[in-house]
Amino acid sequence: MKKNQAIFNIPHPFLFMHICRIIEIKEETSLHKTFFFDMKMEAEPGQFVMIWIPGVDEIPMSLSYIGERAGITVERIGEATEAMHEMEKGYKIGIRGPYGKGFEMSGKKALFVAGGTGIAPLLPLIKKYGGEKHVVLGARNKELLLFEDEIEGIAILHISTDDGSAGYKGFATDLAEKIMKKESFDIVYTCGPEIMMKKMLDLCMEKGVEMQASLERYMKCGVGICDSCSINGYRVCKDGPVFNSNLLSRMDEFGRWKRNEAGRKVRI
Ligand SMILES: Cc1cc2nc3c(=O)[nH]c(=O)nc-3n(C[C@H](O)[C@H](O)[C@H](O)COP(=O)(O)OP(=O)(O)OC[C@H]3O[C@@H](n4cnc5c(N)ncnc54)[C@H](O)[C@@H]3O)c2cc1C
Ligand code: FES
Repeated sequence: MKKNQAIFNIPHPFLFMHICRIIEIKEETSLHKTFFFDMKMEAEPGQFVMIWIPGVDEIPMSLSYIGERAGITVERIGEATEAMHEMEKGYKIGIRGPYGKGFEMSGKKALFVAGGTGIAPLLPLIKKYGGEKHVVLGARNKELLLFEDEIEGIAILHISTDDGSAGYKGFATDLAEKIMKKESFDIVYTCGPEIMMKKMLDLCMEKGVEMQASLERYMKCGVGICDSCSINGYRVCKDGPVFNSNLLSRMDEFGRWKRNEAGRKVRI
């Protein structure tokens, strides 16, 4: 990709794109990099931005850092995220947003359950939450754990890895279930693979604990126009990405169905 390719602004107010420069890149794991921009961004934890990678694609990303030092944490998965990972300090990208509904503060004692890159939108929330906080940080293995040091200083950290290379051996949901047997919480905040969040919803419904989850769906416009991100008639980009357990428990597509790039309903 060419550095500083020609770029243009789109005149619609909701679609206005800021052209930013990458000022710092932090290599978090072999699959994750955090990119900081030369732009202050005020947002609620859980809100997302549309990132335009010149000549490649425009993709949704949660803000893992908010305020003076705004940033996103990108997992290398396919073409667009691969292109992001190839970028260097000084490169320019387009940013639209922040968009959507973020997490709402609730209660005095919270359990945060993160699977893999799902910790990205939860990190600013963990920092902002004023009550007692426990975090279950799950990953496939020790090397893929994100933000361990940052969380350790501000919350009670519980680690799970699928292969047992660090902390509890097993899924984040199994560890969360064990913790919820010993301690009671006012609220559970979660983000990660949808199967994991569905398990957390079932657990929270059983225990009568409120839950908020950040969902992912295929996004094009990011502002409620194209309907590519719909789940049971709700638009994840506008009505979400954060939904509460009351709504999620009434969505029969949650944890079961999503729409692909062509808008076709496919099994999760
Ligand atoms: C609200 C929201 C917040 C997100 N936050 C983060 C984050 O903080 N960090 C992170 O690493 N990833 C995040 N993602 C996921 C990220 O958008 C996808 O991983 C990325 O778009 C993949 O693009 P690709 O070209 O590299 O991969 P592809 O090979 O094109 O796709 C890989 C996977 O990503 C999905 N995907 C591709 N394009 C989009 C799109 N436009 N919208 C939604 N999903 C897409 C595909 O359905 C597929 O499952 C978020 C997604 C949403 C909806
Ligand atoms: S991405 Fe277009 S309506 Fe949600």
